[in-house]
Amino acid sequence: MIQGQPRLSESVIGARGRDSHNPGRFHTQQTTGFSMDVKDKVIVVTGAGRGLGRGIAKMLASKGAKVACVDLNEADLAETVQVCKDAGGDGQAFIANVAKEDDVEKLFADVVSELGGLHGVVNNAGITRDGLLVKAKDGQITKMPLQQWQAVIDVNLTGVFLCAREAAAKMIELGVDEGVIVNISSLARQGSFGQSNYSAAKSGVAALAEVWAKELARYNIRTGAVAPGTINTDMIAAMKAEARDRLVSAVPLKRIGEPEHIAMSVLFIFENSYFTGRCIDTDGGLR
Ligand SMILES: NC(=O)c1ccc[n+]([C@@H]2O[C@H](COP(=O)([O-])OP(=O)(O)OC[C@H]3O[C@@H](n4cnc5c(N)ncnc54)[C@H](O)[C@@H]3O)[C@@H](O)[C@H]2O)c1
Repeated sequence: MIQGQPRLSESVIGARGRDSHNPGRFHTQQTTGFSMDVKDKVIVVTGAGRGLGRGIAKMLASKGAKVACVDLNEADLAETVQVCKDAGGDGQAFIANVAKEDDVEKLFADVVSELGGLHGVVNNAGITRDGLLVKAKDGQITKMPLQQWQAVIDVNLTGVFLCAREAAAKMIELGVDEGVIVNISSLARQGSFGQSNYSAAKSGVAALAEVWAKELARYNIRTGAVAPGTINTDMIAAMKAEARDRLVSAVPLKRIGEPEHIAMSVLFIFENSYFTGRCIDTDGGLR
């Protein structure tokens, strides 16, 4: 026993059980192994129509998960569902706006009734509306409009709150053995120039992963966040070569990440049953 640490009372020990192979060690009733197998698990991925969301959906489907692919864009979703099927798994499309409470409540009710359960959610849907807080030029001061602030907060922060709340409520109701909530944060959670709204939201969702780890552990729900650096999505592909080169030169690994790298971090959080409440930076060392 570590000096100074309180001894577990016998009643607690009794409730948790003694490990018969190692009498000095205790295991909880909930802990059934070291890893969670995502095969046949129902996992919601928001913003799955393209980019990182599609990569995450594909990775989970390739491991046998039943992926509920959520987005605003129906045509993009149809493509993602096909990608999931081609990866050897299962995907189903659900149209919903994560920033709307009614949509999110209906989404999780539909997922449970159509896919027969719920074991996790990846809160990936996100937008940017970059701008400076204030800008002074030629004697004129311009300010970031409240609308511009609010649009990003609504999707990137409130959307994550709504989806996690509904997912947790459903998983508790269903009595899942092990549930997982993953929030996609960003390098910007440290504070990025021109991104007051985005940085606030991305810092918020990393903090929420910690809050929910503490609140939801009693229901066997683990949490985590992944903070991508610069990843090869449509946005990056559309940049001028010069601007892209500048971005790459700042990355210690001297390359842009792929959606698969982010999907691997998400999968790690699902699979490692002793992981909860932390944020995995997946950024080639950029931070
Ligand atoms: N691409 C990167 O380099 C990078 C870096 C750090 C963090 N991120 C984060 O990763 C996530 C995915 O980024 P991406 O680059 O793939 O973005 P993207 O714009 O390519 O895709 C986002 C998807 O979310 C959907 N979406 C947007 N608002 C929605 C809403 N209200 N309800 C439902 N769906 C909605 C869009 O339709 C789109 O399909 C975002 O949260 C983003 O902030 C991305």
